[in-house]
Amino acid sequence: KAHLMSLAPVVLENRPHDVSPPFSWRWLQWGWRLLFFDEGPYVPPSDATEQVARGGYLVDALTHCGECHTPRNFLGGSDKSLYLAGAANGAEGELVPNITPDDATGIGDWSEGDLVSFMSDGMMPNFDNVQGSMAEAIDHSLSKLTEEDRAAIAAYLKSIPPIENKVKRSDP
Ligand code: HEC
Repeated sequence: KAHLMSLAPVVLENRPHDVSPPFSWRWLQWGWRLLFFDEGPYVPPSDATEQVARGGYLVDALTHCGECHTPRNFLGGSDKSLYLAGAANGAEGELVPNITPDDATGIGDWSEGDLVSFMSDGMMPNFDNVQGSMAEAIDHSLSKLTEEDRAAIAAYLKSIPPIENKVKRSDP
């Protein structure tokens, strides 16, 4: 707030929204919230250790891995039955891999250490550098977390149920 209040004031009429109906109808958000919004504090999985609970909070409430890694249903909401199991068509039309601990189609073969170092420098266990929006997520966000928080995210990802969902690109 202190920073915003320090900026020079600008007199400018707000522009009208440029989205067309029905997306401009605000009241429809009520239905959207009913379907896809869970109100209240983050609730960790019941068997979570303190570290896993911290990781789940970071993943779901702050870093939003699922906004890219969970596919969307026909209304554009997250398909919770495929939580973090990858999306063939990400925000930029790119393939977003399955990051559940499934051995065949997810990251079952990554260790927690692999995940922690991946989130700090974008290097994958096969020594490839990650690309696209994930590289941005690492550069601007995940690489700035504390090592403990990266470890908590890794522990959480390894604790969630593996989902077999083949969207992973084939290795070169
Ligand atoms: C803005 C979208 C976006 C967000 C947010 C995002 N990712 Fe990604 N992620 C991607 C994309 C796209 C790729 C594939 C990049 C490539 O092809 O090089 C990827 C790749 C990965 C991979 C490599 C998997 C593999 O098998 O190659 C891991 C692990 C990963 N992300 C974990 C995470 C975690 C953990 C979070 C949250 C802390 C997260 N991602 C948030 C888009 C995103």
